[in-house]
Amino acid sequence: MREYDLVIRNATVIDGTRAPRYDADIFVSGGRIAAIGRLEGAQADAEVDASGRIAAPGFIDAHTHDDRLMLSSPEMAPKVSQGVTTVVAGNCGCSLAPAPNGMRAPVTPPLDLLDDEGGWFRFPTFREYVEELVAHPPATNCALLVGHTMLRVQTMDSLGRPAKKAEIARMKSLADEALASGAIGISTGLYYEPAHAAPTDEVVQVCRPLAARNGLYVTHMRDEGANVLVSLEETFRIGREVGVPVVISHHKVAGAPNHGRSRETLPLIEARMKSQKIGLDCYPYCASSTILSAGRAAGATKTLVTWSKPHPEVAGMDLEQIKREMKLGIDQLLPAGAIYFSMDEQDVQRILSFEHTMIGSDGLPHDAAPHPRLWSTFPRVLGHYARGLGLFPLETAVYKMTGLTARTFGLADRGVLAPGMAADITLFDAGEIDEGASFEKPIAPAKGIDTVIVNGTIVWRDGKSTGARPGQVLRRS
Ligand code: ZN
Ligand code: CU
Repeated sequence: MREYDLVIRNATVIDGTRAPRYDADIFVSGGRIAAIGRLEGAQADAEVDASGRIAAPGFIDAHTHDDRLMLSSPEMAPKVSQGVTTVVAGNCGCSLAPAPNGMRAPVTPPLDLLDDEGGWFRFPTFREYVEELVAHPPATNCALLVGHTMLRVQTMDSLGRPAKKAEIARMKSLADEALASGAIGISTGLYYEPAHAAPTDEVVQVCRPLAARNGLYVTHMRDEGANVLVSLEETFRIGREVGVPVVISHHKVAGAPNHGRSRETLPLIEARMKSQKIGLDCYPYCASSTILSAGRAAGATKTLVTWSKPHPEVAGMDLEQIKREMKLGIDQLLPAGAIYFSMDEQDVQRILSFEHTMIGSDGLPHDAAPHPRLWSTFPRVLGHYARGLGLFPLETAVYKMTGLTARTFGLADRGVLAPGMAADITLFDAGEIDEGASFEKPIAPAKGIDTVIVNGTIVWRDGKSTGARPGQVLRRS
């Protein structure tokens, strides 16, 4: 028997801490990094030559909607193809579980972004969902959140009002079951219709179990436009009252009148960080994507339709073109999804380069013509923003998708290349890494990703999945 399972030879190591790169071999044994350096005469069962390549910790996608993708497409191609080895799922108030009452079509938007038919919402408890992921693991690891909107849908007969006392108690116990079964936190989507009527105090009450379960609070805030500062304060207050860390999802300032206001939001976040734990993530585009609505389209300079249930043929088309050429209005397309161009590039760059900002894709894996962030978030940060624009050094870009993310979410043995850590490793070419997907061609793998390793097993190589599925459900410590 050889000493090690796998050795990665001649790599340039960027370790995920922002430390400068260095050259070394990486030895892997039992799914963990056993040693990094030049070990004379050390032998391994398998060898990967990484000459001319960067070896980085596998990227952690801080914000995903991969709850169902992990079950329906467990090879996780949109993620592993760009070097992602761990996904944080259950965001924006939307999780696949728990569904004690099941889910009938039409599924309440935005929960329909996970499954518009309802059949995948088949786990009565969060524990059963976790057990399914353990029994049939995907290629990537995951960290799971339970969604407040899902709890509301399962608990309340009408969503346009605050929850009553008994409903809050029910949601609280469902949340506690999820946290006891492996969820690392609770997410809200207070921006969306089914949760918009929830007052701050409802959220605080439902989130109470987080404190004893070492969980965190993650939010698609009530307002990312005119009232973004009020929403930030609401988020901080929830974190303080419950006594847990908060993560602001896909931080942005949307709508032309708000362009430039990241100059207000980032200093506020930084000031509050002195007295409480706050994280934030961002995707590297100035267009957002969610369900289609007239109000959202009105605030955008351009709208692309990503899917339409009654008119699947319009996926990928510009809304104006659909109106003009096909004489179809928004009401006739619903339920549907869309991409909205509503942000300012300077804000996106300011938020991306803010010291504490993690990278999260917010990719929507079941859209017919998805926002390109699904397939290209990570290579776009490494290629376009770090190498192309020089927004930050490559070491910083890697940190924002590895070490910072693992620390923010409490994933103790991930995000850094060091002996003893889990062997999640991405090999890429720093000169070639680049986005493959675009708004015109939304489904395409990244360029420059060489080899992707999850828990010591190669899941992506030579531009394709190996079929291996070594993913684990990660806990918070
Ligand atoms: Zn969201
Ligand atoms: Cu989201």
